[in-house]
Amino acid sequence: MNLDFLVQITYIIASILFAFGLKFLSSPVTARRGNSLSATGMLLAVIATLAGHHIISYQWIILGLIIGSSLGAFVAFKAAMTQMPEMIALLHGCGALASVFVDWVHYEKLLHLPFFAIGAVESFMLYISVVIGALTFTGSIIAWGKLSERLPGKAIKFPGQQWVNLAILLGIITSGTYFLMHPQQTTAFYTFLALSSLFGIFLVIPIGGADMPVVISVLNSYSGIVACTTGFVINNTLLIVVGALVGANGIILSIIMCKAMNRSLVNVIFGGFGQTKKKSSDSIRKEAHPISIEDAQLILEAAKTVIFAPGYGMAVAQAQHAVRELTLALENNGCEVKFAIHPVAGRMPGHMNVLLAEANIPYDQLLEMEQANPLMGSTDVAIVIGANDTVNPAALNDKASPIYGMPIIETFKARTVFVIKRSMASGFAGVENELFYYDNTRMIFGDAKDVVQKLVAEFKK
Ligand code: TAP
Repeated sequence: MNLDFLVQITYIIASILFAFGLKFLSSPVTARRGNSLSATGMLLAVIATLAGHHIISYQWIILGLIIGSSLGAFVAFKAAMTQMPEMIALLHGCGALASVFVDWVHYEKLLHLPFFAIGAVESFMLYISVVIGALTFTGSIIAWGKLSERLPGKAIKFPGQQWVNLAILLGIITSGTYFLMHPQQTTAFYTFLALSSLFGIFLVIPIGGADMPVVISVLNSYSGIVACTTGFVINNTLLIVVGALVGANGIILSIIMCKAMNRSLVNVIFGGFGQTKKKSSDSIRKEAHPISIEDAQLILEAAKTVIFAPGYGMAVAQAQHAVRELTLALENNGCEVKFAIHPVAGRMPGHMNVLLAEANIPYDQLLEMEQANPLMGSTDVAIVIGANDTVNPAALNDKASPIYGMPIIETFKARTVFVIKRSMASGFAGVENELFYYDNTRMIFGDAKDVVQKLVAEFKK
């Protein structure tokens, strides 16, 4: 059997493993299996590629592998769970940059052949790949900067910004058209490479921090598209298939997230949602009602149904294991406990699922927002633990609020609501939360883990 044939067969097997890997990732129950399948697919793909005829220098590849793997391992070990979104932004950016380098090297290789020859489809794919790759790289770096607070998180706007964007876009199209007619003209190539890099920056700076998760997911999708177009450029079927999978998967995730915030993708990218006002309405003038740990425990002791609404604060406090202990204490007391998971709770898709799974909370206790909301009216106590925007009723009833229209976990409908957080501070969107002032809400101030551990201790008394 010839080697090329074997490589192609391995590519097909790897593609199938990737497709099933993605499918399994869609549920927490099968996610680990999905990850292992995809990792196996990637290993097969790497082995097949290295075994192919086209490798010019194994030394450089090994060097790259050592440097890249060491850097990757270092960053992965160092990054806290709460830093995952910014890390994902950085990784997507690196993926896109790698594709641009592959395209660029391929182009240089063609230029150095005795007779320069490039087909129309190949040059078009090269153009698309470099444009999307370059803007994905710089856009991802800006997203990373905003999320890691190295850059201001708010939307950065300046007069005439749309015109500047339009001028850059026209430059990319004009140089691209010239390149397609005269592909050996390196000036056109470098012009759209530079302009696209600039465009990525200008595209992301006017988007506020609150919209970064969607932006990252869109950039993820772009990095897939770039891999796909690079696959066409270098004639690699695996890259085409995998790139298409990542591209489609990223765009589906973006749409799910937009739906969860009741926004359109266009509105996210051009709406400037992040320029949030600090207050959503003037109607909030009432006093919040704090409650002691002892009194809160007495109410919980009498409760027959409890629903937790976890959010970013639970991740910051790493309170998931303490929450598991409280769940057991409540269940031992004859109480039914569920968890209501908002699709954008925390700072990354599935953030709460990952944390609760880590604490061995059974999957059947996790309810999606649509399943949990109808139960809220008949729930004795809703415990909001480190969540804020995702339980803010302003999203339902304050048209002036920047989060108006976003579906929320309707904890306010429960007989009693406990809100566990350290202060009256607002959440990610910077919007005041009227839930804290509702008559049925009681605030338990403190670090989430500390508070929950104290509640557990009360149960043990
Ligand atoms: P947020 O609205 O971000 O609120 C989190 C709350 O946790 C804060 O108000 C904070 O209040 C509290 N907190 C922080 N550390 C705490 C600790 N150690 N102990 C107790 N409480 C603590 O959370 P959310 O409801 O999960 O909403 C998520 C927000 O992030 C949404 O606006 C969403 O659009 C955005 N976002 C989502 C994602 C994804 S994909 N999930 C990614 C990026 C952004 P105190 O400071 O008073 O304690």
